[in-house]
Amino acid sequence: MERIDLAEWFPKPQPLEIELGCGDGSFLAEYARRHPERNFIGVERLLGRLSKLDRKGRRAGLTNLRGARIESSYFLKFLLPPRAAETVHVYFPDPWPKKRHQRHRLVTEQFADAVAATLRPGGWIHFRTDDPNYFGQIRAIFDASGKFRKREAPRELLELPTDFELDFLSKGIQTLRVSYQDSGIGFGGG
Ligand SMILES: C[S@@+](CC[C@H](N)C(=O)[O-])C[C@H]1O[C@@H](n2cnc3c(N)ncnc32)[C@H](O)[C@@H]1O
Repeated sequence: MERIDLAEWFPKPQPLEIELGCGDGSFLAEYARRHPERNFIGVERLLGRLSKLDRKGRRAGLTNLRGARIESSYFLKFLLPPRAAETVHVYFPDPWPKKRHQRHRLVTEQFADAVAATLRPGGWIHFRTDDPNYFGQIRAIFDASGKFRKREAPRELLELPTDFELDFLSKGIQTLRVSYQDSGIGFGGG
């Protein structure tokens, strides 16, 4: 299994941010437009949605934005080089609200380990969800992992909503947010 060569994906070697389950990519395309000094990869399993991200990036002439049509955990575990990302964004992952379906959720202890292996020391992961139960699960896993510290997200990021978030907010549904920073004692030690 060959990991992706970021030098082939992007014209400039710059800090890398990943959005897992990027949907139509409105957030990521806008964030990439505002930050030409960073590179961005949107990961999405649905081709139709990823095509929309692609169109947005091309229309805006962005060379710092790419998409990967693949399952998020697989992307982290097998395709991204270790310690390659500065930031991972996970916004409104499928909540699987029924008890018997919760094993399908993206965020698990194994996911936290994969994120720790993916982030550079001091890197960030940002979460948003509308599901209070999933929010509790995310916080419990990341609080207990020992590899992350809870932190306040940068204001600029907090002020930029995603597509699904706009939809929830328009229906009066509150969205929940939490961010963690890699404590530097995860994968690889030290
Ligand atoms: C609720 S939408 C949120 C989209 C976007 N992040 C937003 O906030 O507008 C969740 C997206 O994640 C994608 N998705 C769900 N599970 C995934 C997985 N395991 N790997 C890749 N994409 C996934 C879905 O296809 C969907 O587009």
